[in-house]
Amino acid sequence: MRIPIIGGNWKMHRGVPKDAKEMLEQLIPLVKDLKNVDIVIIPPFTALSVVEYVKGTNIKIGAQNMYFEEKGAFTGEISPKFLKDIGCEYVILGHSERRDIFKESNELINKKLKKALSIGLKPIVCIGEHLEEREQGKTKDIIKSQFEGTFKGLSKEDINKVVIAYEPIWAIGTGKTATPDQANEVHQYIRELLSSNYDKELSENLRIQYGGSVNPSNASELFEKENIDGGLVGGASLEADSFAKIIKVTQI
Ligand code: PGA
Repeated sequence: MRIPIIGGNWKMHRGVPKDAKEMLEQLIPLVKDLKNVDIVIIPPFTALSVVEYVKGTNIKIGAQNMYFEEKGAFTGEISPKFLKDIGCEYVILGHSERRDIFKESNELINKKLKKALSIGLKPIVCIGEHLEEREQGKTKDIIKSQFEGTFKGLSKEDINKVVIAYEPIWAIGTGKTATPDQANEVHQYIRELLSSNYDKELSENLRIQYGGSVNPSNASELFEKENIDGGLVGGASLEADSFAKIIKVTQI
């Protein structure tokens, strides 16, 4: 059985610890009794100190990015070791905003991924196509090449620790969600890739989240699809109320 995972990707919002705490203060009581769901809040680096605040609750903390070296002359970068040492459990890698705006390649993400795994951070790895690619019928080709590039050289044991987030880029922050069938079809395809590159058992056990304009009204039709194991939520994760509603969908 795959336990759903709901991530709140705050992007460049609520980066002051006080603002992050304010949200968490409201969220903690709303979700404290929920079981069989992994809840991860992913604030900007400047608010990662909330790891202390959520200690003893069922909320985990993740980072939005990291570098592939542990230390050294890399001005402006964040070491995965720092993240691990302060108690961060997860890290998002290869978000489409990193791929598109900051030109992160599959090769770079692959290096970061291997490093994150060696340090013991749990990676949430994003893949997804642009609108033109979907319209040209290239969705599967794009997913396949991102999959092969990003996971290159990963052992079965390593990839087992990864959460994949399928995020069609045209659905991110646009209010335009993939239909549950569109999303499920790509999730199914990712499972086929996992099965052919690794094995069937692994493909059935690995968690694949959906991301892209998930909100309290569309979460249930998405999460009830057999291949979708929760969501990576941007905008709707910024307020405790809407985020809690999305998390609660996993309990139905
Ligand atoms: P969104 O963002 O929910 O605001 O579309 C999702 C994401 O980018 O992870």
